[in-house]
Amino acid sequence: MPPAASDNPFSKKGMTVKRDFLHVDDLTTDEIWQVLDIARDVKARFKHREDYKPFKDHSLAMIFNKPSARTRISFETGFYRMGGHAVYLTPQDIEIGVREAVKDIARVVSRYNDIIMARLFDHAHILELAEYASVPVINALTDYNHPCQVMADIFTIWEKRGHLDDLKIVYVGDGNNMVHSWLRLAGRLPLHFVCACPERYMPDSATVAHAKDTGVSTIAIDHDPLKAVRDADVVYTDVWASMGQKHELEERKSHFAGFQVNEALMAAAKPSAYFMHCLPAQRDIEVTDAVMESPASIVFDEAENRMHVQNAIMLFLTGNYTK
Ligand code: CP
Ligand code: NVA
Repeated sequence: MPPAASDNPFSKKGMTVKRDFLHVDDLTTDEIWQVLDIARDVKARFKHREDYKPFKDHSLAMIFNKPSARTRISFETGFYRMGGHAVYLTPQDIEIGVREAVKDIARVVSRYNDIIMARLFDHAHILELAEYASVPVINALTDYNHPCQVMADIFTIWEKRGHLDDLKIVYVGDGNNMVHSWLRLAGRLPLHFVCACPERYMPDSATVAHAKDTGVSTIAIDHDPLKAVRDADVVYTDVWASMGQKHELEERKSHFAGFQVNEALMAAAKPSAYFMHCLPAQRDIEVTDAVMESPASIVFDEAENRMHVQNAIMLFLTGNYTK
């Protein structure tokens, strides 16, 4: 049986319903803005080295079935600096769904920890984890989406531009978990979002249809990157072969010819356009070294903001944020 609402350890903080963050649109538009505001505040506190310990005596379980640099380091560092203790669990430690059922792990880990963060292959596993956990579950990437990343991305754009009005984001590359994340965000915040991908690497059609149906954003799927990036404020890309598909990279390279983000492609966007990438990047494959190192590139601000936004997400979900 999934846990009863009364098992929720955060009910004492006025959180009557356990909140998870499995998709960016698990938050309402207003809640997304609340999280962005919290992130801005918490980032300033970190920059000033304020003594800010809302997670004193709290514990975060971090379950990884895939490799990670940014996600592991940013969650662990952020939670530690807010006074908590993070437990890093490698793919060999739990082998979720293999050594032990997902629903068993959900209930066991909930008995020790205040928050669960998990990076898994199968999206169904994170849904099951959240269903059976009595503490908030945060999706740190599945094959389907990467909501923490897209929250950091939109926060970074907001920081750079000072507003999110009239924002054209053109994603160039594989129609993968990052595209699904952008599409789900586009159902909450008004964007002009274009995914320029090869025809055989389209995003999930139901996710595209849902994003369009919300009527919040203008959304297009295109196969001509040079045309798509016209008037773009942001050109975004990701690897052509995601984790779990790395063995396909050589074959994929020929399918993605013309989809590399290079200086010619950036020149076709607005002169003020930013280049973004969730990282890790494969230089001179999906993006050139020159673009990565160019003044347009904001990839390291984007990477830093993972920590601030995730801190905000954890504070929001647990009701632990106080001004
Ligand atoms: N962007 C991102 O999630 O990076 P890692 O895979 O290194 O965590
Ligand atoms: N699409 C990439 C994102 C890595 C952060 C992957 O899933 O490997």
